[in-house]
Amino acid sequence: MTASGFLEEIADVGRDPQRGGYSRHAFDAPEYDLREWFVDRALGLGLDVETDRNGNIWAWWGPPGRNAVVTGSHLDSVPGGGAFDGPLGVASALAAVEALQEKGFRARRPIAVVVFAEEEGGRFGVPCLGSRLLTGTIDPDKARGLRDADGVTFAEAAKKAGVDPARMGPDEERLDKIGRFLELHVEQGRGLIDLGAPVAVGSTVIAHGRWRFSFSGQGNHAGATLLGDRADPMLPAAATVTAVRRLAAGVPDARATVGRLVPTPGGTNVIASTVDLWLDARVPGEGTPGLVAEISQAASAAAREEGCQLQVTRESYSGDVVFDDALRHALGGWLGGVPELPTGAGHDAAILAGFVPAGMLYVRNPTGISHSPEEFAEAADVEAGAQALATALEQLAR
Ligand code: GLV
Ligand code: MN
Ligand code: MN
Ligand code: MN
Repeated sequence: MTASGFLEEIADVGRDPQRGGYSRHAFDAPEYDLREWFVDRALGLGLDVETDRNGNIWAWWGPPGRNAVVTGSHLDSVPGGGAFDGPLGVASALAAVEALQEKGFRARRPIAVVVFAEEEGGRFGVPCLGSRLLTGTIDPDKARGLRDADGVTFAEAAKKAGVDPARMGPDEERLDKIGRFLELHVEQGRGLIDLGAPVAVGSTVIAHGRWRFSFSGQGNHAGATLLGDRADPMLPAAATVTAVRRLAAGVPDARATVGRLVPTPGGTNVIASTVDLWLDARVPGEGTPGLVAEISQAASAAAREEGCQLQVTRESYSGDVVFDDALRHALGGWLGGVPELPTGAGHDAAILAGFVPAGMLYVRNPTGISHSPEEFAEAADVEAGAQALATALEQLAR
């Protein structure tokens, strides 16, 4: 089947019929359906399927062993996300394996397709949780204790999906087997539109992190409480949102976003008792923590002025990544000199890059929009990407 054909099979899973976007969150019902779909399709290709101790699924072509060529991506999404971010890499991996099988390719190294758990951090807050656990870049106790909006822990959710939380953590034996890791992904900006090309090789990923700002004040009656008597955490939260934009604008190439803000209890005629907001900050090089420190100072001052308290917690951080030089150059050669592109988006490949030679392929997104229902890829570009991936796997595993 083509990569578009695989995507077509899952086009309805987790889709919002009104707005069109996808909400598929780690181990929830839609993502669970996608996991089952993946296992079924991988078995259909004769692959050996296993779920690792961290909830990532591996489908092996050839006996699992060292020097494996591993490709894949994720099936979870952001809330209201697009159809391609994640699933395109998984569908393309399945299509590439099938194409190689059909042409009678005999690999000298094992090939594996992997589906990583909780790449977006859309449910438990920390992105790339499956690959961070695998590589030991997050404390398993911290991962187990992460809670979703309903208070369900990652450990509880993973257990329901058949993963033993007690075994979560670094998986050196598995990591040792990965000779090369290559993730195909829809492009999340306009790079390929501007270049007029369908496919690119990834060069770098910008440092990025997430911080939670918890403001607390005095919940009270909206009508009976005079303005001067309030400690309304919504005020410092609002000041923080504008400070994020103002302070980030002063840092070259910085991106900083507040995409989620939760007042509790959240009533129109209720002064909130707490407001939590989440900051996503990304600055190339070493600049992210400094920018967040400035934002935290502004948030503290605003909290003090309103008589509120503030607690700032770092939820995740990863530094700049440059993908493996040799792999990038080899990909450029095999694929006939396709362009290289940097990205401000995070990926499991960037986590793995700290441990094994890793690289990425991007497929043109004609809207230039991502983490939105408008994210798109033309069928011809999807096929160009899957073919590029097949060529790369063939060269790497021969
Ligand atoms: C994930 O897609 C991210 O970069 O936030
Ligand atoms: Mn994403
Ligand atoms: Mn992604
Ligand atoms: Mn991502």
